[in-house]
Amino acid sequence: MNSSSILYPESFSEEPSRARIGIFDSGVGGLTVLRELYRQLPSESILYFGDTARLPYGTRTPGEILQFVREILTWMVQQGVKMVIMACNTSSALALEAVRSEFSVPILGVILPGARAAVERGRRIGVIATPATAASNAYRRAILEMDPAVAVWQVGCPTFVPLIEQGRIDDPYTCEVAREYLAPLLQQQIDTLIYGCTHYPLLGPVLRSIVPDSVRLVDPAVHVVAAAARELELLGLRNTRSPLPTRFGVSGSPQQFAQLSVQWLGHTPTVEKVSLPAALCGPVPLESGE
Ligand code: DGL
Repeated sequence: MNSSSILYPESFSEEPSRARIGIFDSGVGGLTVLRELYRQLPSESILYFGDTARLPYGTRTPGEILQFVREILTWMVQQGVKMVIMACNTSSALALEAVRSEFSVPILGVILPGARAAVERGRRIGVIATPATAASNAYRRAILEMDPAVAVWQVGCPTFVPLIEQGRIDDPYTCEVAREYLAPLLQQQIDTLIYGCTHYPLLGPVLRSIVPDSVRLVDPAVHVVAAAARELELLGLRNTRSPLPTRFGVSGSPQQFAQLSVQWLGHTPTVEKVSLPAALCGPVPLESGE
């Protein structure tokens, strides 16, 4: 593992289809999107970034999240990516609309593909998400715009991301917390449950043991990657050559990220420390609540 080197930009100006797809999250949650990319788009090359120095995003203000996303996108564009997938619901809910007009690279978020998949399947939809995503109402709005007759309940789950980032998936306490978060949704007899945070599919076995089999689980990662495949096709940007090895970068400890992610990747990744452009952990100029 090399924690001190810098990720150098790669140039594919002659062959833009060979450039990487950039994906980012606050931490290991984006690995659920990465594994879908490996499954659905195996010939694409990926640049993964985890903003581990500043997680969790779910208890940050909207202004902070927007600032972080701008920094990450600036860096990803410098690295020469051909597309960015926000592998983070909180960023998609709070920042996607604003940054789409600020950057020329195509940017995809997880909320709309997740909402669409849920509406196609259910009439009583539950959403588990970070407090910031739940408070933004992004899922409720998206779902009701697609079908106003559907009922939606959202629950903010502040403890899940810290537990997952501490590797406490099999801890009985995690199961106890999950029961508490899911209780109000099960009481409403939901028929569909959206993983409204990319970390949550990593809790799949725990959640499945609590939720009745009749409830469909919707993982937006599956659907955002399908949308990315269509978009790449439309733009003529599908890579037809062999993919490059995935590059992993984090703002926090590369060793910690590598150790935690091995259980989902199946190998220990090489992870590099990244200093994002602009004040990495400095004061945030934007006010909350906009
Ligand atoms: N995994 C991200 C999401 O989907 C961020 C979670 C967090 O850092 O709170 O929202």
